[in-house]
Amino acid sequence: MSVTETKQEIRALVSRYKKEGKSIGFVPTMGYLHEGHLALAKQARKENDIVIMSIFVNPLQFGPNEDFDRYPRDAEGDRHKAEAAGVDVLFIPSVKEMYPRALSVQMTVTKGTDVLCGRKRPGHFDGVATVLSKLFHLVQPDRAYFGLKDAQQVAVVENLVRDLDFPIDIVPCPIVREPDGLAKSSRNVYLSEAERKEAPEIYKSLQLANKAVEQGERNPEKVISLVKAHLSAHLSGKIDYVELYSYPDLEPVHAIHGRCILAVAVQFEKARLIDNIIFAE
Ligand code: PAJ
Repeated sequence: MSVTETKQEIRALVSRYKKEGKSIGFVPTMGYLHEGHLALAKQARKENDIVIMSIFVNPLQFGPNEDFDRYPRDAEGDRHKAEAAGVDVLFIPSVKEMYPRALSVQMTVTKGTDVLCGRKRPGHFDGVATVLSKLFHLVQPDRAYFGLKDAQQVAVVENLVRDLDFPIDIVPCPIVREPDGLAKSSRNVYLSEAERKEAPEIYKSLQLANKAVEQGERNPEKVISLVKAHLSAHLSGKIDYVELYSYPDLEPVHAIHGRCILAVAVQFEKARLIDNIIFAE
């Protein structure tokens, strides 16, 4: 596996692969890799000649009171995990390398950001769209892999490539969970022991909702109330949101029909966790 920290080197590698006619699969991450990230790399491995992963904790997508400074990092561990998952090139630029000067052009996401994490984290998806535009230009992937753990991010990225004509297939991948149902996340390490024990209730609340929908419940308010009641009864963390929309358009729905997303965010003492379930047609 090649490891590079510079834009110049990644450009040189990419132009060599392009000349050789090789397809490129790209997995952008912020590191502190876990099975969720590695599942994306493994899928990319199956579908492309070359797999490039980036690890970059992007300051642009963190709010002033968020966890940019204390976001967990483990460069050495990440290197081994990425290599074992079949990554060919690991791109780990510094903030200075990615943003050598103050930006004079930035992305603004105009759809799908007035709900869920977009509403709670103003500017977050603008930062995501800006860094991904830069990374897509550098890596020039045929396919880019994203986890449905961040389903709103998948919707935003699909709009980004469609609206700005990036010739990239966005491949959404299923949520990878711990055996007890908790969605894997780099931020799970922030949980106290007691919070970690409660955290699987988030997924349990989504399963309860799924069962209700399977049994014919179509009223979004009722499903949301069911989830809120379960979370309040079982968690010490504070509910940030429980919302239900059409997916991937993220429009309000009056009745649960077609593809809909039920998404939850819970604020624990040091960690904000998100999870979701997509009801199929
Ligand atoms: P990060 O949170 O590191 O996640 C990188 C990718 O891994 C995202 O596509 C995310 O959805 C996916 N992922 C995380 N946990 C997962 C899980 N339990 N199951 C499946 N996939 C999972 O998302 C970002 O970084 C950043 O916003 C980024 C896209 C890199 C832009 O900075």
